[in-house]
Amino acid sequence: MADVGHTVLFSADQVKDRVSGLAAEIRRAYPADTTLHLVTILKGGFVFLADLARVLDRPVTIDFVAVSSYGAATRSTGAVRLRQDLYLPVRDRDVLVVEDIIDTGETLAWILKHLRAGGPRSLRTVVLLDKPSRRKLDIEADYVGFTISDRFVVGYGLDHDEQLRHLPYVAVLGGSSTDTSTNVSCQTTRGASG
Ligand code: IMP
Ligand code: MG
Repeated sequence: MADVGHTVLFSADQVKDRVSGLAAEIRRAYPADTTLHLVTILKGGFVFLADLARVLDRPVTIDFVAVSSYGAATRSTGAVRLRQDLYLPVRDRDVLVVEDIIDTGETLAWILKHLRAGGPRSLRTVVLLDKPSRRKLDIEADYVGFTISDRFVVGYGLDHDEQLRHLPYVAVLGGSSTDTSTNVSCQTTRGASG
């Protein structure tokens, strides 16, 4: 076990406000009677999905797909592996992919290709965090919560070695953040990521 500290980047209140802002943007973009089919990428998207679904004020259906690309590292290996496929068909649904973060873009590109093959009526993406400086593919999300620099972040669903997903805020692993003043220390163990 290593003792890894982290530094708050976006507080729980800041995240909450931004999620409400994203929900408002998304509401404006679809007719009021549209049922949005929220497809979340496990595991990292589960907290964002739970909060977004409750403030969208739209009928929603929900499905999950599980992929992994990171292992225990803080850099993507690039190879996306399907761990668990969708449960519901996406044909003729208005699909909104709900993802924690877009980094190299490999995961989102893979998921979008996978979903397109199922024939959705529409297909858009919302990510809480965007690290554009790390992009390897020409891909952008339709809705972005926060754009951040090349830092490894944890909390609000995001993990490091499966730890820290439960934090109610987004934090930078280890070192200090210029955006904040709260430092927290905790234990991490090694394991698979997602
Ligand atoms: P990409 O395929 O390189 O765009 O990476 C996307 C996935 O990698 C996300 O869904 C996360 O699960 C994970 N990821 C990317 N950056 C971070 C990070 O800073 N912290 C934790 N997980 C990350
Ligand atoms: Mg993810």
